[in-house]
Amino acid sequence: MPERRDLPPSPPGIPVFGNAVQFVRDPFGFVRESARTTGDVFRMRFPGADVYVLAHPDHVETALLDRESFGKLDDFSIAFGDALLAVEGDRWRRQRHAMESFFDPTRIREHADTMVSLAGRRAERWTDGSTVRIDTEMRSLALRNLFEVVLGYAPTADELDELAETAHALNLWFEPTSWVLPAWVPTPARRSFRRGVARMRDHARSLLAEGGDEPEEGSLLAKLATLRDDPDSGVDEAEVLDQVVGMVFAGHETTALSLTFALQLLGANPAVAERVFDELDETLDGPPSAADLEELPVLDRVIHETMRLYPPVHAIPRVTEAPVTLDAHTIPADETVLLSTWCLHRDPREYDDPETFAPRRWASTTPRDRGYSFVPFGGGPRICIGRHLAELELKATLAEVCRRYRIEATGSLDVSPQMTTQPDGPVTIRVTDRRR
Ligand code: HEM
Repeated sequence: MPERRDLPPSPPGIPVFGNAVQFVRDPFGFVRESARTTGDVFRMRFPGADVYVLAHPDHVETALLDRESFGKLDDFSIAFGDALLAVEGDRWRRQRHAMESFFDPTRIREHADTMVSLAGRRAERWTDGSTVRIDTEMRSLALRNLFEVVLGYAPTADELDELAETAHALNLWFEPTSWVLPAWVPTPARRSFRRGVARMRDHARSLLAEGGDEPEEGSLLAKLATLRDDPDSGVDEAEVLDQVVGMVFAGHETTALSLTFALQLLGANPAVAERVFDELDETLDGPPSAADLEELPVLDRVIHETMRLYPPVHAIPRVTEAPVTLDAHTIPADETVLLSTWCLHRDPREYDDPETFAPRRWASTTPRDRGYSFVPFGGGPRICIGRHLAELELKATLAEVCRRYRIEATGSLDVSPQMTTQPDGPVTIRVTDRRR
């Protein structure tokens, strides 16, 4: 155990509650202000336990690359069993290797037409001049994409509603009200989570069975079914089911949030939206093809900037496997560490005028140039396996929606950190037909 004076500094708090009151009042504001005034590595004091925050790109790089010292939180394996996002060591290496080819960018590109057509079908239902609740619309669209593209199954509208409810329950393990309690305490949120997992596993089981054990060829489910049937693969049915639940959890809500934020920001920034419309008008003559989607630099910048300002994963959680020294401070073993994407993306040392939505900043720099100061998909070996799929889906959907509609924001965008970055209430935009 390091000496107390070696621990990372902590922002001033109050007796007993430590920093809990400030954190609960304005979590994002408190974390950013603490990084500015207390340092790039700091310790938040909560009644149950301390939580450490890393807010410098070099420290985040260390944490993402040094997997001996920084492991995944137990919560992930308690919640998701043997899913890729939860496992570690050889098991992780084997799974990641087995699934990597499905997520390869050239393979993913083949799904562009499906993504455009799903976005078109969804947008068709909106009436000219109406106000659309985009947070729920985009969640449902992202879930449909996940089922059709990743699992090779097209749910009916009723099935999709039921799946949406089930998928939503998968976030409940990480409900803030459960944070301070040990994993065995059956909070209402955890009970709903377990019911959600059981139902999602049932769906996955029937997909595997209904497809005559041959889900649509080329889907990730087909690949997983093949592995299950190969006695040398070490993959059993239980692992396939965990994998499906984990993909639905990791893949649909994150993508839906980015789509929601991007549409709201376009609606609130008419000059930027106008540039997007001009680019689409110059490039497209009908729904975008996979090749068209590669020729939309203005839209690319809008997407990067949305992911910078509103990263759906606002913090990447890790646990220290051993004491770790950073900036002459030591974090003890077995402590929760948050790699704060939120702080990195809004750091004035890295980005000019960081609170402003300015897609133009990406005209002279790329996500790759930004290194570990831009990590919406994480980094290192455990970087998001679905990032190419998500990026294509964002582009396909935004291009198809903006080809059809002019967008106007009807309110401001306020968000809070839950497991992901969540809007504080319904997000709506007004849409008017651009093609008349
Ligand atoms: C905008 C959308 C998305 C965002 C912002 C996002 C973000 C992330 C981040 C930050 C991580 C790293 C977590 C860590 O290091 O602990 C991650 C991992 C992961 N993501 Fe995504 N993700 C997105 C979309 C998707 C999609 C579409 C899928 C699958 C269909 C997916 C599947 C996964 C999986 C399985 C992992 C775990 C990878 C591993 O541990 O090897 N994600 N994602």
